[in-house]
Amino acid sequence: MKYDVKPCRILYKREIAQGIFDFLLDAEDFAKAAKPGQFVHILVPGKTLRRPISICDIDAEAGTLRIVFQIRGEGTEILSQMKIGDHMDVLAPLGNGFDLGDTNRKALFVGGGIGVPPLLGAAKKFGKNATVAVGFRNKETAILEADFARAGCRVFVATDDGSMGHHGLVIDCAKDVEADVIFACGPTPMLKAVCELAKERGIPCQISLEERMACGIGACLGCATPLLREDGTQYFGHVCKDGPVFDYTKVVL
Ligand SMILES: Cc1cc2nc3c(=O)[nH]c(=O)nc-3n(C[C@H](O)[C@H](O)[C@H](O)COP(=O)(O)OP(=O)(O)OC[C@H]3O[C@@H](n4cnc5c(N)ncnc54)[C@H](O)[C@@H]3O)c2cc1C
Ligand code: FES
Repeated sequence: MKYDVKPCRILYKREIAQGIFDFLLDAEDFAKAAKPGQFVHILVPGKTLRRPISICDIDAEAGTLRIVFQIRGEGTEILSQMKIGDHMDVLAPLGNGFDLGDTNRKALFVGGGIGVPPLLGAAKKFGKNATVAVGFRNKETAILEADFARAGCRVFVATDDGSMGHHGLVIDCAKDVEADVIFACGPTPMLKAVCELAKERGIPCQISLEERMACGIGACLGCATPLLREDGTQYFGHVCKDGPVFDYTKVVL
């Protein structure tokens, strides 16, 4: 499906951690077409530019999309105040999602902070073949670990202050995990460490990037990012259209 714009009714809403909201949207056509790792672009009432939010989970049968977002500024604050029954103006599905390939492989998912939501839908496809390592500042900001566990994934949590799980970096939990493929989303230092791990192991790795966006469809250069060609030369691509998921060998972090 090519992208489209539709009003999507909010079916459910909950603050799952301080300033982090979980919304379920009635979005039948989008749910049929969307892939894990793609994103929706939401019009904020009273604002000109849409806000990009990853698709956290897809239920094609129920016709719903789940999004989980953190209040970062005015736009996300306004979205967080929308109520059950309100309609969000959604442009979707956008970008290239994760290329999951054979879900019988052992997959390692590594997520940091608000980079964790886009991994859920993909990890669910791997179920018990997925090991998920997620890192947060502290216990209060930890999200979705129970959702991964419910999907049958093995879950490791790391926190900066040791208030939950491993005291330290999420990559510490990921280092010794046996895996055929890695999927990751989170802050740049974490992504760099994940790419190093993939390189050391010689296994494929896909990472999801975040960049400031305007149009979300490749028309404005708002999300330009340096990318690598096969021969190693650089060019500028679009995170919104060429990504947000990239093969780790194609990006310059
Ligand atoms: C592909 C993609 C997926 C994302 N998925 C999620 C998600 O699942 N959950 C989540 O909490 N956040 C996600 N983000 C980040 C989210 O888009 C920003 O936090 C949000 O746009 C901030 O808007 P604001 O008005 O609250 O903040 P402000 O800082 O007031 O925003 C001002 C402008 O900058 C843009 N902007 C600011 N920060 C970002 C950013 N980090 N990325 C892109 N644009 C930004 C806004 O769109 C807006 O145009 C994602 C970003 C991208 C690019
Ligand atoms: S946001 Fe306009 S080109 Fe990507």
